[in-house]
Amino acid sequence: MSRTTFGALILAAGKGTRMFSPRPKVLMELLGKPMLGYLFQVLDPLFPGKVWSVIGHQADMVRSMFCERSKGWIEQTEQLGTGHALQVAWQDLADADLDYVIVANGDTPLLPAEDIIALMRAGQDSDIAFLTLTLDDPGAFGRVVRTGGEVAAIIEAKDYDPAEHGIPTGEINAGIYCIKLKSTQAFLAELGNDNKNGEYYITDLVGMAVEAGLTVKGVNCGDKPQLLGINSPAELVAMEETLRESKVLDLLSSGVLIRSKDQVRIGPDVTIEPGAEIEGPCELLGSTTIARGVLVHSHCLILDSTIGAGSRIRHFSHVENAEVGQECIVGPYARLRPGAKLLREARVGNFVEVKKATLGRGSKANHLTYLGDAEVGEGVNIGAGTITCNYDGKNKFITTIEDNAFIGSNTALVAPVTVGKNALVGAGSTVTKDVGENEMAIGRGRQQNLPKKGGS
Ligand code: UD1
Ligand code: CA
Repeated sequence: MSRTTFGALILAAGKGTRMFSPRPKVLMELLGKPMLGYLFQVLDPLFPGKVWSVIGHQADMVRSMFCERSKGWIEQTEQLGTGHALQVAWQDLADADLDYVIVANGDTPLLPAEDIIALMRAGQDSDIAFLTLTLDDPGAFGRVVRTGGEVAAIIEAKDYDPAEHGIPTGEINAGIYCIKLKSTQAFLAELGNDNKNGEYYITDLVGMAVEAGLTVKGVNCGDKPQLLGINSPAELVAMEETLRESKVLDLLSSGVLIRSKDQVRIGPDVTIEPGAEIEGPCELLGSTTIARGVLVHSHCLILDSTIGAGSRIRHFSHVENAEVGQECIVGPYARLRPGAKLLREARVGNFVEVKKATLGRGSKANHLTYLGDAEVGEGVNIGAGTITCNYDGKNKFITTIEDNAFIGSNTALVAPVTVGKNALVGAGSTVTKDVGENEMAIGRGRQQNLPKKGGS
């Protein structure tokens, strides 16, 4: 007997009108990660190679945000409703020979894997199964109508009439379905849009299936907040806060010291070793990893970066796509941009910007400096106000500074240029030619002391 094949479909074509944002809703972020990214993270491992997404509103922007996914995009050019989104996707699902598809609304980012698994179990004995919640106030969610305990229909809030549908019970549709393709195919084409929104509702499939005598199950998950859809800025912020708090509490209990914990935003994919210390307010986002013994002072932003054991990131520093080795000191007020790499014990001080540059072991750039497209060896001292002039208006060039060189203050290094080992560059120099090993370079106007005009 062949195995049952499941796939997943994310409905992500809507505009998200109630968000009032120029960005499509599914790209809006919770702790620096777009909603759709959360859904991929939970669905990809459950359905490897079998996750599709219906996109429409600003589809190109959505696709380019996930450019590593070349397949699985289905375009719904006109957003005529969730049922229409399923109609548009249907052929791709059928071509993939799926028995069942898990359909998930793209605005339910924290959907737990355990609930999908429970839904798959219930789904295998039914034609349609879906997750439900029981809320004190069913609000704008679709309401589940049952007769004698069995699901009869889902009625959208706007179309709900207590006289016809009964007093609402508080049980709502979470917008996550398990649909058997073979049984549902026939109803899909029959969906109508005769409702208050004039949309084709996926939820109407439930009532149609019940009427046709098929097996439909509503799997109740209590009042689980992770299953609530996000429709407004207030809902997004509430969900984000729940996520933030649980991440911070998990880290605290694992042995990370987090001061002013309510003002620390740590992304879901950030890892921090026990024994690190974080001071709020600050933001640690993306794929950042922080080793034991690191101290991150307040008002820092660290994004997609690695901080090695024992390093200290002092106040008001920005670190993005950078690698900081062990026992380094960064900041206060330092900016490490993409491609910055600090080897062990290097130091970068206030108002220093580093981009696509490596600073070797124990090297220092402590004040007011720009190091871009540079290779700096070990034990180098970079004086205050040093600038690598890496750009001629068209192209970028490399500056190389070899081990133990000393660059005097206010030096302009006009790339491409190399300063050799142990070389010394006098303060105020503009260096346009290579400086050899052990040489001293001075490239500045000679000082003249003249009698002062009108002086006595
Ligand atoms: C939907 C359900 C409602 C449920 C709620 C749970 C319907 C008709 N209603 O309502 O019963 O309680 O979710 O959160 O489905 N989308 C498309 N194409 C479209 C329209 C929407 O892809 O043409 C996508 C949206 O991007 C979104 C998802 O479908 O991610 C749900 O759409 P939304 O408008 O948010 O539905 P709700 O009104 O919240
Ligand atoms: Ca919604």
